[in-house]
Amino acid sequence: MVKIGILGVGTVGASVANILEENADIIEARAGKKIVVKSGVVKNLSKERGVSIKLSEDPLDVVNDPEIDIVVELMGGIEEPYALVKKALENGKAVVTANKALLAYHRYELQEIAGDLPLMYEASTAGGIPIIGALRNGLSANHINSIQGIMNGTCNYMLTKMINEGAQYDEILKEAQELGYAEADPTFDVGGFDASHKLLILASIAYGIDAKPEDILIEGIENITQADVAFAKDFGYAIKLLGIAKKVGEAVELRVHATMIPEESMIAKVDGVMNAVTVVGDRVGETLYYGPGAGGDATASAVIADIVDIVRGNQGPMLGYKKGLESGLRLLPKEEICSHYYLRMSVDDKKGVLATVTQLFSELDISIEGMMQNPDNDHDERVELLFITHECQEKMIQEAMQALEKLDVINGKVAMIRIEK
Ligand code: NDP
Ligand code: HSE
Repeated sequence: MVKIGILGVGTVGASVANILEENADIIEARAGKKIVVKSGVVKNLSKERGVSIKLSEDPLDVVNDPEIDIVVELMGGIEEPYALVKKALENGKAVVTANKALLAYHRYELQEIAGDLPLMYEASTAGGIPIIGALRNGLSANHINSIQGIMNGTCNYMLTKMINEGAQYDEILKEAQELGYAEADPTFDVGGFDASHKLLILASIAYGIDAKPEDILIEGIENITQADVAFAKDFGYAIKLLGIAKKVGEAVELRVHATMIPEESMIAKVDGVMNAVTVVGDRVGETLYYGPGAGGDATASAVIADIVDIVRGNQGPMLGYKKGLESGLRLLPKEEICSHYYLRMSVDDKKGVLATVTQLFSELDISIEGMMQNPDNDHDERVELLFITHECQEKMIQEAMQALEKLDVINGKVAMIRIEK
């Protein structure tokens, strides 16, 4: 018999406990051994959680319990779970975690501490989709050319409702929280940080890149307006929060941001809490992974898959590379990333304004691919100019936005969304 201890019996932890009990027969048949939860840990013992396992308030009751073989970390946070996971590994226990924030900051240290002990994290990225297993095992014959995906269920749920139903941002965020999709601090979701944590985990497995969130370009969905949505529709785009990793020569670009993508592309059709990730390998070509990216049972499904793998004895290097044999690729500085850009600005409705704006683009060597002029619904004497640029570097568009915002005829901030064709 294999005994499990669960650190954090919240949305995911409660599902793990219940599925291990309710699907015990099939799980035992697949793992080859009976798997039982010995105990779990919560902050507040008086809360009702719908589980039948023994609970305590002290994480060390699990981490130091000599009878527990596998510690499952589902409490969230960074430094506290790091200390507990480290302790569990030092105590000789295998660990399973769904905590991408922990891994975004400490995955290489944890790999070192784990040594030959299993430390598995399938649920950390794209919830119930087995994308970690696909990259670590299924695609190991390939150089990875690119990874692109919807990696945050909360943002996709919100964008879908905002775009399809005109729903209000705050209302829909509250709904995502009630459904158990959002992080304890939802700014991690809407600010793009959660997706960046997942992208960094995938980038380690695909490219051996040891980067932290601070090193890469991260933007969220907070500034998307109905004007952007309408423009995107007119020009045949959907708007999604994407995590993107691309091999460019001997470097890898990593970025998370709201993105306009052609509405006929496969991931443009992925709605609601669903996630989808495409991986292009140099030998396999394009592969697509699709499924629920958040929610208790979907995430628990991936957590339990890791437990079964550990019980079966399946493992390899935690981050997919044998130590010392990493790819040697470097992180591309964010200013050097190239993209097409959509820009929206409110300008005075006066003669010569359009010429002034396009003159500035020309001086900065940015070429315009398309443009539109709309009434500014909030101000009679203004109009909105919307541009799509040809491909240019991130540093050029940042310079252009700063220069545009200094022009007297431009009112307020210039909004920008990157475009992937
Ligand atoms: P919840 O907030 O629902 O659950 C967290 C649990 O941990 C709660 O039971 C909480 O106790 C307990 N906890 C937190 N801190 C402590 C502490 N210091 N001591 C003891 N117990 C503690 O989170 P989720 O289940 O949603 O998420 C868990 C992890 O899984 C996170 O890392 C998250 O990023 C990740 N994840 C979540 C997904 C989802 O869809 N929800 C999907 C994929 C990954 P109490 O209930 O008493 O407050
Ligand atoms: N908050 C995360 C999301 C949970 O919405 O995708 C899954 O990692």
